Amino acid sequence: MSKKRVRKAVIPVAGLGTRVLPGTKVIPKELLVVVDRPILAYVVEEARAAGIEHFVFVTGRAKGAIEDYFDHQVELEAQLAAKGKTAILDQLLKELPKAGEMSFVRQMQPLGLGHAVWCARDIIGDEPFAVILPDMVMDAEVSATKQAIDAYDQVGGNIIVVEPVPHDQTHQYGVVALEGQDGRLNRMSGMVEKPAKGTAPSNLIVSGRYILQPEIFALLASQEKGAGNEIQLTDSMFRLMETQSFHALEYDGVTYDCGDKIGLLRANVGLALKNPELKDAARAALLPFFQ
Ligand code: UTP
Repeated sequence: MSKKRVRKAVIPVAGLGTRVLPGTKVIPKELLVVVDRPILAYVVEEARAAGIEHFVFVTGRAKGAIEDYFDHQVELEAQLAAKGKTAILDQLLKELPKAGEMSFVRQMQPLGLGHAVWCARDIIGDEPFAVILPDMVMDAEVSATKQAIDAYDQVGGNIIVVEPVPHDQTHQYGVVALEGQDGRLNRMSGMVEKPAKGTAPSNLIVSGRYILQPEIFALLASQEKGAGNEIQLTDSMFRLMETQSFHALEYDGVTYDCGDKIGLLRANVGLALKNPELKDAARAALLPFFQ
């Protein structure tokens, strides 16, 4: 039987963003700006570059601006046209989604990532899908989501994108256990959430991109609350692992955790220094801080 193609992505955006308060008191975390665009714009571009055809945003209260970001801003567009600011106008128009390409479902309470993904079940239906955590901005030559889909095309089942961290930091993250390690794509034997120091099964941490099979939804429906009193995606993935294969893909790229103050700062600096139009000015502006 041929594998079903990954066409849809779930992007959960209903969290409270407490780690970057008060910045996220009225602005959704996912719309915080890195260099010149919201975090979310990087992620949508990444998913598009992977051939994703439909985006399912799981939103919540006070997140209405996210929907507006992906719509025409008629007055602004008219003003830009009147002022002859055609370059930025063209860019805004080019980045708009195609009609019908995005769906928005409501998670009425932020009950956890697992619950957020479950809210997308009817729109995903019976096909494999990507989950993209938008606060993890992944800068990669080949889009991180594309790397995950390519791995899925190769081995099927479920894919978890991972990356190495120094061994003394593994206790802060979800860490994967591998059956054996040969290259970047390896079959998993398990996963541990925040292992005690010195006990992690590897130094590969779960980094915010997944390809999952639709059978996860039935498990999420009955998932009890776990760590942090939230319905955890990890707990249902554990249960799915009993009947389906999971592979960990060590992706090639740089991750910025924009859900965290220092990560957000790193993203601004790292991506400004890579931006062809800004890098020289950014370097000149930053240099005095290090002298
Ligand atoms: P995080 O745990 O990083 O986001 O979830 P958070 O809960 O907003 O952040 P903190 O810890 O309070 O600072 C990863 C992604 O999952 C979404 C978040 O919006 C974020 O994009 N999420 C999380 C939901 O959509 N619903 C939830 O119940 C929890």
